[in-house]
Amino acid sequence: MRPQDIIAKKRDGHALTKDEIGIFIGGVCDGAWADYQISALVMAMFINGLNDEEQNILTQSMLHSGDTIDLADIDRPKADKHSTGGVGDKTSLIIAPLAAACGLAVPMISGRGLGHTGGTLDKLESIPGYNVRLTLDELKQTIKACGFAMAGQTDRLVPADKKLYAMRDATATVPYIPLIVASIMSKKLAENLDALALDVKTGTGAFMNEFEDAKRLAEAMCQTGNACGVKTQAVISDMNQPLGKYVGNSLEVYECLKIMRNEHDDIMLPTRELSIDLTARMLTLTGFCKDIETAKMLCEQKLSEGAPLESFRANIELQHGDVRVIDNPETLLNGSLKEIAVTAAGSGFINGIDSLAIGEAICEIGGGRTKAEDAVDHAVGYLSAKQIGDAVREGEELGVIFCRTREQADSVFAKLQTAYRITDESTTKPELIKYVV
Ligand code: URA
Repeated sequence: MRPQDIIAKKRDGHALTKDEIGIFIGGVCDGAWADYQISALVMAMFINGLNDEEQNILTQSMLHSGDTIDLADIDRPKADKHSTGGVGDKTSLIIAPLAAACGLAVPMISGRGLGHTGGTLDKLESIPGYNVRLTLDELKQTIKACGFAMAGQTDRLVPADKKLYAMRDATATVPYIPLIVASIMSKKLAENLDALALDVKTGTGAFMNEFEDAKRLAEAMCQTGNACGVKTQAVISDMNQPLGKYVGNSLEVYECLKIMRNEHDDIMLPTRELSIDLTARMLTLTGFCKDIETAKMLCEQKLSEGAPLESFRANIELQHGDVRVIDNPETLLNGSLKEIAVTAAGSGFINGIDSLAIGEAICEIGGGRTKAEDAVDHAVGYLSAKQIGDAVREGEELGVIFCRTREQADSVFAKLQTAYRITDESTTKPELIKYVV
């Protein structure tokens, strides 16, 4: 069947068959389809839609476009977590070692930060020497040895997504739920999991600002995951303010280590709570624990015993990082940085925080990248001292910028200050977990 026949069918609003979607994905990977033909079909899908069956077939075709991770000889339930990304979203760094300490195998394939959201790989690379470029065999050996591995996507894992995502990015066809589902879920399902916990964020710093959009995405991802034989559950979590205390690569690793060392403060509690919730879902979905309460108790017990910290120590050693950060997380903090306070412009209550602006500000001072090839300054970042619902007085500290130069702080000060909406009326703190699908 010729590409133009498949394009015409979708252009005219018809559902595509398994064979037709298979031909398309094959053509994307082997170059038989020209870029303009790929773009035309993706645009036709965007405009005329994909039904659930097409969404599931597309996901399956994409996941089989390259190698998959075979963990059959690891005698533990296999589970992972995926987040749609946010500001200060660092839970992967706790979830992987915590789930491993509880008894799961976690093949955590992660990404890099782009725009206002951070990426797990960049965070991990703030640990000196930590190697995120593992072959599939190294990934497997690491999981066998310590229960989890965290690494980037290899060229052989879901190659169709790399090409398709580039086409979608260049043709304004990224924001369509079935295409997002196929893109995200094909990469996760290539890990051959038993269970997957999804963290779909909603709010000012999320990919999906509106709750209803986040819910539709969560439902669509759960539908595809479960239809493909992976027990999948999603939480919709709050991203109306940065998660926890710090934003920025080294600072976020520091926060996670403080939590795993049981040395956290109150501002870090949401990071801890969300990490436990998602890990507990992985434990119940795999059948490892009988219910979410039992699973949460197990997580609390492991954290209080320091077991995830020891899993992380073993993992850092295996991935060639500097294990000294485990016993001395302060080595992650760069003492030569300037710490500039962001102060409240008025008195009242914090009624809203523009998390997107905070994420962008950190990106602007080097903590993130605007283009995939940009370098990242792992040390810079932000301490988020006040949250929604807190009372503040004019001049009081809202947060602290960690930066290299005074000029950097000056360039983002106003953006950070105006990210806080301060009003006379008090407000309640937003719920961290808003909904479970
Ligand atoms: N993240 C992905 O990996 N794919 C999408 O399509 C959107 C977000």
